[in-house]
Amino acid sequence: MDEPAFPWPAGGNTRVPYRVYTDTEVHELEKARIFAGPTWGFLCAASEIPHAGDYKTTFLGEVPIVVVRRKDGGINALVNRCSHRGSLVALQNQGNTGTALTCVYHSWAFDLDGNLTGVPFRRGIEGKGGMPAGFDLKQHGMKRLRAAAFCGLVFGTMSEAAPPLEEHIGGLIGGRMQRVLGDRKLKVLGTTSQVLHNNWKLYVENTKDTYHASLLHSFFSTFKILRLTAEGGIHVSEDGGNHASHSRNKQDKDQGEYVGLRSAIDGFGLKDASIFAARDEFGDGITVQILSVFPNFVLQQVHNSIALRQVLPKGVDQTELLWTFLGFEDDDEEMQRLRLKQANLVGPAGYISMEDGCVGGWVQRAIVGSEQDDSVVEMGGASHASTDNRISEASVRGFWNRYRPLMGFE
Ligand code: FES
Ligand SMILES: [Fe+2]
Repeated sequence: MDEPAFPWPAGGNTRVPYRVYTDTEVHELEKARIFAGPTWGFLCAASEIPHAGDYKTTFLGEVPIVVVRRKDGGINALVNRCSHRGSLVALQNQGNTGTALTCVYHSWAFDLDGNLTGVPFRRGIEGKGGMPAGFDLKQHGMKRLRAAAFCGLVFGTMSEAAPPLEEHIGGLIGGRMQRVLGDRKLKVLGTTSQVLHNNWKLYVENTKDTYHASLLHSFFSTFKILRLTAEGGIHVSEDGGNHASHSRNKQDKDQGEYVGLRSAIDGFGLKDASIFAARDEFGDGITVQILSVFPNFVLQQVHNSIALRQVLPKGVDQTELLWTFLGFEDDDEEMQRLRLKQANLVGPAGYISMEDGCVGGWVQRAIVGSEQDDSVVEMGGASHASTDNRISEASVRGFWNRYRPLMGFE
């Protein structure tokens, strides 16, 4: 398939055809043009693989990837597929592979650059069998990607046409990433994974959708934690693909008690509101910053809970959402406790984020039979420019502004 089989509706980025969430041909095209196209995908934190031979497995789109630390300290990203019969090579989530990656099926061995270095029984036994004399090991390495790091996070791309990673992230959103991560050494506090019964784009849109937060998430409204009237805004990259929203909400003691103790519903409150005893660790009073890098990476700061989210497509109507909860090596003990406690706000069963895990599934179920119809994305107008408020779907429109030309939806 060369081009999408249907046109984009009139209305530009303010209309999204439901078909983009259900059409298997669109999904195939995304594999080639988005995930193997001129974009970058988050792979792992560099600090997760500190020593030579350390590896971590992940996905670029749906393609299995193994990221490995070389002897010289550099990082390689390889497609995690053996060049013999196509088996996975690295089988664990992470580990240390020594100086070679060896496929378990027939023990073909690859060095940490992915070069094929050993084929058992290559010369046969006593002159019988074996590979042909002309078999060239050099032609059969594991496929290697371009890899680069920003703020201690490793990204990879299949595409030679992708701009340098820093350019892909851009100065505006790169600065917001630096605000949270800086040059500090990252420490992984834990990970979670959840299956979403919806197309991957519905979750990516959800993270960019600042309109829903105080409406969908009843934990916020019940305990009067977040209001759209709180100061905040949305930064959107020029091409629309990347965004960072932020807000400054009341989070600390208010008239002698934590705000969460006073519920919007009479007689209903948190007995222990210490989950809101956050520190203003970046010194700017921003309590929530949600940031995304096209196509499927999210960095969150919710109070002191810092997490990376990977939105991994698993077919057209299923998604795996991987969360990596972070702290920093130089955190004191109290800060680490705060981060772990506040991790309860997010993740698969998070007080705030659990609704995000099902709302995409509700959309996916409801659009069956309405594939010719479109959704409406007009809150805040038609543009995807940065705004000084969050009552806007600007960054959702930005996503489509980046997506459409890549996919050929003009
Ligand atoms: S499939 Fe890997 S060695 Fe045969
Ligand atoms: Fe949400």
